[in-house]
Amino acid sequence: MQHEPEDTKAALLERRRFLKLFGVAAAGGAAAALSPDFAAASVEAGTDFPQADWKTRHSGWRGIRRAFILDPKTTYMNIGTTGSTPRHVLARYNHYNKVVAKYPWDMHGEWGHWPYISGLVERIAPQFGADNHEIILSRNTTDGMCSILEGLNLQPGDEVLYTHHEHVAGTSPLHVLKQRSGVTLTQVEIPVFDATEQGYVDAFAGAVSPATRLIVFSHITYKTGACLPAKRICKEVAIPNGIPTLIDGAHTIGMLNLDLHEIDCDFYAGSGHKWQCGPGATGILYIRDDLTRLRGYWSDRENVFWPINSSLAEYPFLGLQYQMQYIGNDNYPAKRALADVCDMWDRIGRDRIEGHVLALSHYCKRLIRKAFGSSVVIYSPDTPELSSGISSFNPFADRTDLTTLNTFRDRLREEYGFIIRTTDFHVFLNDQDKEHALRVSTHLFHSRRDVRELVAAMYELFTDMNT
Ligand SMILES: Cc1ncc(COP(=O)(O)O)c(C=O)c1O
Repeated sequence: MQHEPEDTKAALLERRRFLKLFGVAAAGGAAAALSPDFAAASVEAGTDFPQADWKTRHSGWRGIRRAFILDPKTTYMNIGTTGSTPRHVLARYNHYNKVVAKYPWDMHGEWGHWPYISGLVERIAPQFGADNHEIILSRNTTDGMCSILEGLNLQPGDEVLYTHHEHVAGTSPLHVLKQRSGVTLTQVEIPVFDATEQGYVDAFAGAVSPATRLIVFSHITYKTGACLPAKRICKEVAIPNGIPTLIDGAHTIGMLNLDLHEIDCDFYAGSGHKWQCGPGATGILYIRDDLTRLRGYWSDRENVFWPINSSLAEYPFLGLQYQMQYIGNDNYPAKRALADVCDMWDRIGRDRIEGHVLALSHYCKRLIRKAFGSSVVIYSPDTPELSSGISSFNPFADRTDLTTLNTFRDRLREEYGFIIRTTDFHVFLNDQDKEHALRVSTHLFHSRRDVRELVAAMYELFTDMNT
């Protein structure tokens, strides 16, 4: 049994006392009991679970919350970094690992035919509005972004547009392209305050030049949680100009109800381990229709793409999906567990998950505004079309002061049990200093009470640090 350090225990007791003062019950109480359905299922790891309709079998979101083994003494609100795999998926993952260990040669036939992924892709692709031949089960967003950026036949003088709020998963391979291939990188300033859909579209439209060969942007930025109008950027800027799009979807897979065909991008790289709550090193990569459109856009180039990272790059007749998917021996259990957790999301309803996440996020921003008043800066948009499950804000007067924010984050975890993170960014492209923000992720296993408790804790801590 694991023992809590004494000071952590004292802090948690203190937190419970404090929360009572605010008229909310101690966190964890409601989630502590294990639903009999899940308890039974978790030991029956080899069986399909859950077969029943979630909507009738479980008491709504509380039942879903019980599917997770998150430490009840803390409230985990950093899904943007990584999620938490549900109990029954973990049990099955363990089972799959045992099957592979017991039958290394053919995995007991449980994964179908070599290369063992096709059945999983068939389960996952329709959930994201994609065809089977367009989905590759990758290792994560970084893997997807690198596979595309390093694979595209970009040449000296080609320009790539990307926003000033991209993650290193995109900027690192872009940097390589610049150094190795002489590609020009142009940062597009996207609006932070008073953002509108049109504002994002205009930002890209205004940056396109005859040399632009690719547009890269995050569907949801990890800095402010802004959800960019991906479909409009593709349809109103990229497609009319014959420019392919690569979208970093680290934060949408498992949070939003996505339809990749409707967005109409060329490439979409996402994580399986964040909002989708799959095991580590799982991701989903979308490549539109065997690059047919891209070949039209880049008709001046004989070859538009090399499947790097593949053991089958020399065999184009196999088809791009096959080539991209086969990277030597794979983590088949993790990929199967990803398909399981995707099925769970599908059963709950991806539209319902999106609605729950966005409602909680709106509630969070409303309470932050109410608690901290007009002095708090909330960087995340709060309109339905631009918001996400990520809320970024800073209640302190000096928003360039990282030390204070890190202390706040650490004390919030150590003294109150809430786990969040910080981010930093230039509000305007040419700003000298970066601003820092606290970042909260709210997901399907959170409730309005979690959000109330969080804001109450943050307000007390803020008051303490300011006196
Ligand atoms: C916007 C964005 N892109 C990419 C990544 C990298 O994700 P992964 O761990 O799936 O490679 C992150 C991780 O936080 C992210 O926030």
